[in-house]
Amino acid sequence: MLTAEQQAAWQQDGYLALPGFKTAAEGAVLQRRAREIVDAFEPGDTRAVFSSTQPERLADAALIASAEAVHCFFEEEAFDASGALRQPKAQSINKIGHALHDLDPVFDAFSRGPALAALAADLGLLRPLLWQSMVIFKQPGIGGEVRWHQDASFFVTEPQSVTTFWFALEDADLDNGCLWVQPGGHRTPLRERFERHGERLQMQRLDDTPWPGAGEARPLPVSAGTLVCFDGRLPHYSAPNRSPKSRMAYTLHVTDGGAAYSALNWLQRERLPLRGF
Ligand code: FE2
Repeated sequence: MLTAEQQAAWQQDGYLALPGFKTAAEGAVLQRRAREIVDAFEPGDTRAVFSSTQPERLADAALIASAEAVHCFFEEEAFDASGALRQPKAQSINKIGHALHDLDPVFDAFSRGPALAALAADLGLLRPLLWQSMVIFKQPGIGGEVRWHQDASFFVTEPQSVTTFWFALEDADLDNGCLWVQPGGHRTPLRERFERHGERLQMQRLDDTPWPGAGEARPLPVSAGTLVCFDGRLPHYSAPNRSPKSRMAYTLHVTDGGAAYSALNWLQRERLPLRGF
């Protein structure tokens, strides 16, 4: 389905934006379902906060359990000093993860189909396996920064194969925290690796290559319905959202079944079988 020009851009840049890949109606159905999941979520005493800037604050057990479940994670700035929510629950969730695509029929339908299968084949995924899905809310006012990273740090395979499918459910621009990428950065080394040792998770430094400077980073403003695919080694970033507009996105992380998936990766499937597109 990709043109020769798009194939060349994918090889050269390590990412590809496909405007209009999903319709507004498809996006609306997914957004509605995501909000239903948040409405039904009972935080209880275990308030898993998602923070990419302070990984030690991750509730390791909650993250590990979410590998084969559907779990809501709060924004780091969601709570005040006394531990009370600063705003309603629906505006306090950072993300939902990580097995929506296998456990929820609405997400399953959005995440699979002939168009995605054909695209994955064009991107070189011979036997795609869908490990992880996330709804990322990037809430108005408090949506957190996601610092520079490479998704391959979380999905080590030999050879490297993880590919990210990032769907804009709403317009993403410089004000509400769109993606930033380093074109061609997929040819740079893997800087870090997120490892699981028993019930402990930790980020290991692998390489001192610096993250891209201002001159190397490119913002990727996109309209709702756009699918951005990127190589797992592509450095990317998104700024905090201080605007009054949310920036909802949905992502899938997909590896090639022909590559060896590391036993040290945090996400392991023990009960739910892995499937393709
Ligand atoms: Fe990422």
